[in-house]
Amino acid sequence: MRVEENIDLSNFLSFSNEVVAKEVYFVSSVAELQSVLNQVDDPIILGGGSNMLFTNSNVQRTVVKIEILGIEILVKEENYDLIAVGAGENWHNFVLWSIENNYSGLENLSLIPGTVGAAPIQNIGAYGVELKDVLHSVEAYDRESKSLKTFHVSECEMAYRESMFKTKHKGRFVITDIVLKLQKANHSYNTSYGAIEEFLEKKGEKDYSAKSISEAVIAIRSSKLPDPKQLGNAGSFFKNPIIRKSTYQDLLRSFPNMPSYNVDDHLVKIPAAWLIDQCGWRGKRVGETGCYIGQALVIVNYGKATGEEIFTHAMNVKSSVLNKFGIEIIPEVNIFQ
Ligand code: EPU
Repeated sequence: MRVEENIDLSNFLSFSNEVVAKEVYFVSSVAELQSVLNQVDDPIILGGGSNMLFTNSNVQRTVVKIEILGIEILVKEENYDLIAVGAGENWHNFVLWSIENNYSGLENLSLIPGTVGAAPIQNIGAYGVELKDVLHSVEAYDRESKSLKTFHVSECEMAYRESMFKTKHKGRFVITDIVLKLQKANHSYNTSYGAIEEFLEKKGEKDYSAKSISEAVIAIRSSKLPDPKQLGNAGSFFKNPIIRKSTYQDLLRSFPNMPSYNVDDHLVKIPAAWLIDQCGWRGKRVGETGCYIGQALVIVNYGKATGEEIFTHAMNVKSSVLNKFGIEIIPEVNIFQ
C-alpha cells in the first residue's frame, strides 16, 4: 500500500485549493482498507474530492484515499443485471461503461464528478433521477464492529441529497463497493426534466436512447456548470431548501416571482440558486472566489483561493439569503474545519 507524507491534496480536490496533508494512505483493496483502519483512529476518507472543502490548509488527520476498482456482473435476469462497482471507480466513466454495454438507468446522472463510493453518501441526483432509483445495495466497512456489512437500498435512509452515511452514521462506514440494478431490456427513460426534451427535440432525435439522453445531459451540464479542471468548484454548494407551503405563500406576497417545486402536500423546495441570484451574488467575484456567472449556486475558486476564503464567502452568501428571505440554506458540500 502506498503511503505519502506531507502531500499537497489540491490535485485530489475539485476546489483545487492548496491543502497539505500530514499523511495519505492510497488504498486499493478491502484488505488494505481494513489494515489502515486498524491502525488509524479518525481518518478522513477521500473519494474523488468533488464535494469537499478543507478550510484549514494543513490537515493533521490521516487521509485515506479510496482506490478500490473493478466492475463485475453479479446476477443476470431477463430485463436487468445486478452490477457491483468498486468505490474508487470514477462515476462518469462508469456511467459511460454502462451505456456502451447497453444498460440504461444512469444516463441522467452523466458527468457528475466524483467516485462511485461517494455517490450513495449524498444520494447524487440530477435531471429527475437520483442514485436511489437504480441502487440495489451498498457494501461498507463498519469501523465500530470492524467487519464488512451489506445494506439494501431500503436500509440506507436515502432522501434528497441525504443518506444514513451522511447523517446518523456519519464517519462510521467506509463504502467499498455498490451494486446497481441496471436495465438491459424494456428500457424506460426519464426525460421529464424540460431541458432534456428540448435538447433532443432540437436535435430531431425521436427514439430516445441512454446514449442520446446522456449526450443531452452532458451538453446541458457543460453549458451551465464550470468544468472543475478549468475552474475549481464542487458543484452546488448548498442544498435547495425545503420549506412549508404556508411560509412560501407568505413569501410570495413580497417576492411574487419566487419559483418552487412541490415536495408533498405541505412542503415545497425553493431553488437556492434563485435565492442567491436575487441577493446579487451571481457572477460576483470576491478576491479569488465568488458565485459562478452561469449558476449562482456554484462557488468557484478563480485560482488561488484558500479553503477559508471559500468558506467565508459561502457563509456571507448564506447570511444574505437568511436576511433577505428568512430561509436558511445548508451546505451540500462536506466541510472539514
Ligand atoms: N436559477 C437562478 N439563478 C441561477 C441559476 C438558476 O435563478 O444562477 C433558478 C432558475 O429559476 C432555475 C432554478 O434556479 O430554474 C433551478 O436551477 P437548475 O435547474 O440549474 O437546478 P438547481 O436546483 O440549481 C439541481 C441540483 C444540481 C443538478 C440540477 C439539475 C441541487 C442542490 N442541485 O440544481 O446538482 O445538476 O438540479 O438536476 O439539488 C450538484 O448537486 O452539485 C448539482 C450540480
